[in-house]
Amino acid sequence: MNGRSSEYPIQPYILNRWSPRAMTGEEMTDSELMPLFEAARWAPSSYNAQPWKFLYAKRNTVHWNIFFNLLTSFNQSWTAKASCLVIVLSKIDRKTHSYDTGAAWVSLAFEGNARGYVVHGMEGFDYDRAKKDLKIPATYQVEAMIAIGKKAPKETLSKDLQAKEIPSSRVPLQAILQEGSF
Ligand SMILES: Cc1cc2nc3c(=O)[nH]c(=O)nc-3n(C[C@H](O)[C@H](O)[C@H](O)COP(=O)(O)O)c2cc1C
Repeated sequence: MNGRSSEYPIQPYILNRWSPRAMTGEEMTDSELMPLFEAARWAPSSYNAQPWKFLYAKRNTVHWNIFFNLLTSFNQSWTAKASCLVIVLSKIDRKTHSYDTGAAWVSLAFEGNARGYVVHGMEGFDYDRAKKDLKIPATYQVEAMIAIGKKAPKETLSKDLQAKEIPSSRVPLQAILQEGSF
């Protein structure tokens, strides 16, 4: 559906997930948004510790500017049209807190993508200021942010961003595999 092909056949929802940036700027209702967090909730984790926590800000609410102001100017240029900004945290308890939380984020991304929404992960924001501005306890690690929104035509983006609005490829399977020791 998005022009990608895999070396071996896999479930279409995996190949079809990608990270566009063009969004309409519409609000999303809780009945549209909450199923994405519900999907995250069902991710597997070591000892079922479920170390993930999602702080979110919906557009046109008092929380929005606090989240939006953490982002780099590049990320602000396209997330201005997002419906919801999310900060992903993991509770620093087990060795696998980040690993488990990564599983939860991708579960959210698959669910959102399957529902036709934009779900785009972001590292481009001020991690230290996030801790301070959002009163995050020291027992939690800031992992990443996510922009969620309703898809818009790519032509609504600036020319620079339009050039990036293409599903990316991957390194060959053999580059990430090694039978036996490293
Ligand atoms: C943790 C994480 C951080 C990312 N940070 C940014 C970011 O700050 N800005 C951005 O435009 N894209 C960001 N991306 C999107 C990645 O560049 C994108 O997922 C990657 O190129 C693979 O493309 P795909 O998601 O379309 O398959 C991030 C993705 C992840 C998972």
